[in-house]
Amino acid sequence: MDAINLFNGHINQKQFNRKIQEDYNDQTAKTYRQNDERDICTPASLQVISRLQSLSAQFSHKINALDVGCGTGRFFHALKNIRELTGLDISSSMLNAARQPIHAEKLDIEMIRLIWANYSASNLTQNHFDLIYSIGVYGHPAPITVEVINQFHQNLAAGGKLMFTIANRDDEKYNPLLYKSPKRKMIEAIQPMLPKSVNDYLTNRWQNYFISQDQVLTLFQESQFKNYHVWPMINRFICCEASKA
Ligand SMILES: C[S@@+](CC[C@H](N)C(=O)[O-])C[C@H]1O[C@@H](n2cnc3c(N)ncnc32)[C@H](O)[C@@H]1O
Repeated sequence: MDAINLFNGHINQKQFNRKIQEDYNDQTAKTYRQNDERDICTPASLQVISRLQSLSAQFSHKINALDVGCGTGRFFHALKNIRELTGLDISSSMLNAARQPIHAEKLDIEMIRLIWANYSASNLTQNHFDLIYSIGVYGHPAPITVEVINQFHQNLAAGGKLMFTIANRDDEKYNPLLYKSPKRKMIEAIQPMLPKSVNDYLTNRWQNYFISQDQVLTLFQESQFKNYHVWPMINRFICCEASKA
């Protein structure tokens, strides 16, 4: 199946927002915040930090950056020479925690604004951001589509850089999330006969958005980006980098 058609007709934004709010609740935000210190030292996080440091330092002027699905602001401290950082997230609990991000005293950022929104439904200024990044959001828990990639392109300024990670569906660490219990298999078998509202709810609840490296490449080929590079990271993720001409 073509990557582009993977999720067509399955994403009910209202239900998706509700599910994300439920999953990234106050307790999750608290746990994230407690684990920030430990988790920024994992090899995968160090790789992310190194890429963000390098990308943000490539500009000779102060830049505007956008963190899509910023969570608790775990990676704000990796950025260099930032005029304005926009942190955007669906979860108000995660966003609240981002008011006091880890290493707040070390931030090289003049101004931070936090926006409570689903990126797909957001209306951010076009051609504005020199750097857009998103860590641990697409592939799981959010779907990556050509529309999202083109939205990145629209929001980027000329010469702007994009970096985001994708949950790699070929990584076996995700197998537990893809496991279907016998009960779930039974419900799935009768799902088409259930009322539409129940059917939609279950589809949304169970939908996963994992994709492979080849599928991400297909999405980029269909997008407005001409320069892009997709590579496997140390752990579980594929890294997607692109620049706007
Ligand atoms: C796994 S957490 C990662 C948080 C942070 N980027 C990090 O690396 O620590 C995923 C975050 O993405 C947010 N999120 C998921 N889909 C989103 C979307 N479409 N728009 C904005 N935020 C989204 C969730 O609310 C959650 O805070």
